[in-house]
Amino acid sequence: MAAERETEVPEAQIAVHWREEAYVYPPAKFIGQANASDPAILERFREERFPECFKEYADLLSWDKYWHTTLDTSNPPFWKWFVGGRLNASYNCVDRHAAVRPNQAALIWVPEPEEERTESITYQELYRRVNEFAALLKGFCGVETGDRVTFHLPMVPELPVAMLACARLGVIHSQVFGGFSGAACGGRIADSQSKVLVTMDGYYRNGQLVDHKVKADEAVARAREEGVEVEKVLVFRRHQGQYASASPMVEGRDFFVDEVMADFRDKLVEPVSMPSEAPLFIMYSSGTTGRPKGCQHSTGGYLSYVAGTSKFYQDIHPEDTYWCAADIGWITGHSYIVYGPLALGTTSVMYEGVPTYPDAGRPWRIAERLGVTTFHTAPTTIRMLRKVGPDEPRKYDYHFKHMTTVGEPIEPEVWRWYHDVVGKGEAVIVDTWWQTENGGFLGSTLPALQPMKPGSCGPGVLGVYPVILDEEGKEVEAGSGRAGNMCIRNPWPGIFQTIWGDPDRFVRTYYEKYCRDKDSKDWHDWPYFSNDGATQAADGYFRILGRVDDVINVSGHRLGTKELESAAVTVEEVAEAAAIPVADELRGRAVEMYVALKPGVTPSKEIEDKIALAIQTEIGAVARPKHVWIVPDMPKTRSGKIMRRVIAGISNFGDVGDITTLANPEVVDEIREKVQAEKRAIGEGPS
Ligand code: PRX
Repeated sequence: MAAERETEVPEAQIAVHWREEAYVYPPAKFIGQANASDPAILERFREERFPECFKEYADLLSWDKYWHTTLDTSNPPFWKWFVGGRLNASYNCVDRHAAVRPNQAALIWVPEPEEERTESITYQELYRRVNEFAALLKGFCGVETGDRVTFHLPMVPELPVAMLACARLGVIHSQVFGGFSGAACGGRIADSQSKVLVTMDGYYRNGQLVDHKVKADEAVARAREEGVEVEKVLVFRRHQGQYASASPMVEGRDFFVDEVMADFRDKLVEPVSMPSEAPLFIMYSSGTTGRPKGCQHSTGGYLSYVAGTSKFYQDIHPEDTYWCAADIGWITGHSYIVYGPLALGTTSVMYEGVPTYPDAGRPWRIAERLGVTTFHTAPTTIRMLRKVGPDEPRKYDYHFKHMTTVGEPIEPEVWRWYHDVVGKGEAVIVDTWWQTENGGFLGSTLPALQPMKPGSCGPGVLGVYPVILDEEGKEVEAGSGRAGNMCIRNPWPGIFQTIWGDPDRFVRTYYEKYCRDKDSKDWHDWPYFSNDGATQAADGYFRILGRVDDVINVSGHRLGTKELESAAVTVEEVAEAAAIPVADELRGRAVEMYVALKPGVTPSKEIEDKIALAIQTEIGAVARPKHVWIVPDMPKTRSGKIMRRVIAGISNFGDVGDITTLANPEVVDEIREKVQAEKRAIGEGPS
């Protein structure tokens, strides 16, 4: 096959075609109030001060017992942080704030139906609820410190309550994204060997009350197939006294939390003083291929890291109203809806539903009504809101001081809309690069001290020293214009401890590639391989190209899918773009471009040509797509990532793989029919 004939080009020769973007400076008003506005902080986190610099993060927490060793490297790459220290995460996120500001809202929950009332939960109320649920877990389910409990919960306040209740007991929680199937949940229950599943009868999504409990039955069945017996299923009810599911409650296994709670009302549970190194939770990585990896995060290191990055990068102050519009089912929600913001005692907003329900003005109405000061979301949401309601933000009287983009590279065009229209030119933006494995941010600008550059995440964050390495392990110099593998030279407190139950895979996936000496106990010999490709500009800013396999090799030129997509999005009519490789007789591979247009724009040959030309102009003739397919929507995962594998399967007349976890599986057939019919008509179908 032609596709197999391509020659591997070493990373060192990768050409990168990004155009340098100009700096954008933070507004003076933001700088005036920022937590980190004195450049001395950059000095305090210089490499010479590593690892002791992270004492500054750990000191944001209340420790029961102070640690004696900041970083223990005796068993690489299983780093241990703040060894000898003891603390409780629930105490740090709840009790200590309830003691001094009991009536401040800890969480504000916005239900999806607009006619339902927003619910504010004060720190005192949160303290009560966390204690009661901890008492129930202990008294009714018999869970003990070190056990695992799986949650399959939607975006409801019961989720952070349950997380903090586990943390109070030293029980390891594993939240599975509510949108995942029962089977996916069951696999994760089995992997973590949880005996208890916490779920909900239903929740609102796009105006529908979704039956969720039915997935619990599938999950328990799947876990059983994999050898793990769930003893108890705790079911929260979305509406008091009603049951939103068609699935029957199984006698002796399924229990309504509100009924069982009668015995635990007003009960208090002492927070268990945990070693810094005790696991706090497991988060299965959202990878689109391969068996999910249970990323095990620590208590002391993780909590210090999310508190520190929330303070300096999210610029969280207790008096802020902070809204991270991610789902708590992802690491972003764990770190930057629950643990980081609550450790700092701020008010964290949670929204149950879809951002565009009932219309594209919803997020801005929420922001206006609650007085949101700080807004945090992902490029996929930004693109969607830009697509369906480009002028909506102007209609609402809200004022953000700080905004975040996270989860994938953002195209400069989209960044500018976020800055100018969503942020009204008044807000600073941080583009935070990191991964489920990392606990917290790794690449970002420090918002008051380092200017923004659209499309770049910025330099390594405080105390994190990234480096781009080529395939031979040689450093790719800043400003060289070459891309390579994004690595971190040093450990940091938020790094995951291992893959649950699979330490070999942990070492193999993240450390083997660049380890200089397997017997060395010096962290310098163990760079962390992120599996992302990146380039570094002369000013030290990184531009993430996506996972290293997200490159298309055309005639020996490795083109980053993201740079192709960014070029396509410069065309005014384009809302979203995805680049995929197709087998090509001549070039080994060629690029095909899939695009979705803004609403109201009629697809035309003219637009297709404009897109091809934009790519040719921005990147070069080599990148000119063989075809541009205008489609109604992109196939996406529930977390909003475009599934290039699916469209690549269509373009190549191959297998599209499992599409059951997609948010919109129905578009797959629609795209397939159109694209394959047109290809056949021009003789490109399989012979
Ligand atoms: O490829 C990078 C991309 O998302 C991957 C991590 O995804 P996940 O583990 O689901 O964590 C998402 C929340 C951090 C990374 O390997 N990614 C994440 N943030 C950015 C990014 N790519 C570019 N820019 C970012 N800011």
